[in-house]
Amino acid sequence: MITSHELRSKYIEFFKSKDHAEISGKSLIPENDPTVLFTTAGMHPLVPYLLGEPHPAGKRLTDYQKCVRTGDIDEVGDAAHLTCFEMLGNWSLGDYFKKESIAWSYEFLTSPRWLALDPRLISVTVFAGDENAPRDEESAAIWKSIGMPEDRIAYLPASDNWWAAGPTGPCGPDTEIFYWVGEGLPPPGSNKGTDPKRWMEIWNNVFMEYNRIDEKTLVKLPAQNVDTGMGLERTTTVLQGKTSVYETEIFRPIIAAIEAVSGYAYGSDAERDRSVRIIADHVRSATFILGDPKGVLPSNVGAGYVLRRLIRRAVRHGRKLGVAEPFLTKPAAVVIENFKGPYPELEDNRAKILEALEAEERKFLETLEKGEHEFEKMLPNLLKNPDRVMSGRLAFKLYDTYGFPIELTEELASEQGMRVNREEYEAAFKKHQELSRAGADQLFKGGLADHSEVSTKYHTATHLLHEALKRVLGPHVAQKGSNITTERLRFDFAHGAPMTKEELAQVEALVNEQIARDLPVTMTIMKLEEAKAVGARALFGEKYEENVKVYTIGDFSKEVCGGPHVERTGLLGTFRIQKEQSSSAGVRRIYAVLE
Ligand code: ALA
Repeated sequence: MITSHELRSKYIEFFKSKDHAEISGKSLIPENDPTVLFTTAGMHPLVPYLLGEPHPAGKRLTDYQKCVRTGDIDEVGDAAHLTCFEMLGNWSLGDYFKKESIAWSYEFLTSPRWLALDPRLISVTVFAGDENAPRDEESAAIWKSIGMPEDRIAYLPASDNWWAAGPTGPCGPDTEIFYWVGEGLPPPGSNKGTDPKRWMEIWNNVFMEYNRIDEKTLVKLPAQNVDTGMGLERTTTVLQGKTSVYETEIFRPIIAAIEAVSGYAYGSDAERDRSVRIIADHVRSATFILGDPKGVLPSNVGAGYVLRRLIRRAVRHGRKLGVAEPFLTKPAAVVIENFKGPYPELEDNRAKILEALEAEERKFLETLEKGEHEFEKMLPNLLKNPDRVMSGRLAFKLYDTYGFPIELTEELASEQGMRVNREEYEAAFKKHQELSRAGADQLFKGGLADHSEVSTKYHTATHLLHEALKRVLGPHVAQKGSNITTERLRFDFAHGAPMTKEELAQVEALVNEQIARDLPVTMTIMKLEEAKAVGARALFGEKYEENVKVYTIGDFSKEVCGGPHVERTGLLGTFRIQKEQSSSAGVRRIYAVLE
């Protein structure tokens, strides 16, 4: 039986044998991309290269990438949805295209030398065509030429076979590969189009030759790229002859740890099994998020909020299994142990992961207690209601103010012979959701990775600021974070004290001086060692490829960076620091604009 770890290695080995360079996967928290909270696909860190920037490792790349997608967090618990997954990927940056991509995918899946999956259990989809791009007869013909029966090829519309990571950015038609998870052999004529439930998607090959600029504008990219993503967990599932990701060796040990702390035997009750799966998935996500070098802590905003929700939902399902004490560190320790090979950062951050989980669990258990207390305070009034119905607005208030989940309010109410007006609660909840979704949409505006002219200027300004801070404050200044929008830059750096007015003025002046000198910005690709030798700044603790891009700004700054940057500093305008404040212990934060 092939394990998930073997699958990961084989994938990389296969694509290396096809002249791909292995690059390292990146952080779960995207750098310099204000538009998404997490890395959601293997291609995400490669967006600049898919848009045309040269990649230092070449034109054929392969890697494995941890991803978090929380769009369908509420569906987690079924057989296939996960909030955290690994994507195995291979890319062509204007090198090979459909023919090689399809042939190699098929070879890797079916060759006895590689995965040896049964070709009779494979079906594919191709793009049916619309006003943006033609019907993909080319991919269909390639599939047929390597032996795919005609009736296993479904032509599907853009909703299925057009892939984009966000509302703007690189995109294109794709061909998706499915594996039969029904009984026996699939009947003749069965494919994803005729029988959507029994075919599980395992791989997606996107032919990225377009760039969506805005809702109305789709342009051709300078090169025809390939972006593929294979779901590690799903492919492991079919390789191991299972029908659910939770049955694989990826999840079984995590589930065993949950069984041990709860005393519940997985498989004895459908409702509780679902709780076990939710805990297993969420604890794995939370462990990866906390274990990331740029990892966040639970909070009420952004990625920290998602993390908080994952942990709290796991705790709640723990209570459903009868666990009243903090317990998540037990399954989390299993996650660390089983994934520290491919993700050594989990081991490096072991203490942080376990401490943060336990602290958040304790805090949430307190919240639950507080909610129960508030409910008791409401009780005398509630009992006066002759209908024995608790208003949905009150239930929502418990949720909104104390984070007290509706299921628990219902439980407490039913103990008192009451029910909650669920419709009213849902209405209040929906209104709240619409408000916060408006906030989330705001976050998504501007597309996946924003490489507009303005943000490119801010990238370059960030390098100038970084160097200026080092010169004014001293060499201890190290970059701790960077975030760019089209409105401003934000820069976090290690420094023990608030900056004085004089220091701020000096930094600002030093940056503006470099802008006035109109220094050229140049890029060289070199070995990481060479980059260090020439004194290029690199983020400590960050994983880099062997070959890196070094951006040099005149005689002022040298930094390892993916780009893009403006060509001359003279293009930047006037640099102004808006705010300097504390970010966290020993870390200061600067907001600055270009005017
Ligand atoms: N980027 C493609 C996906 O995530 C491969 O499905």
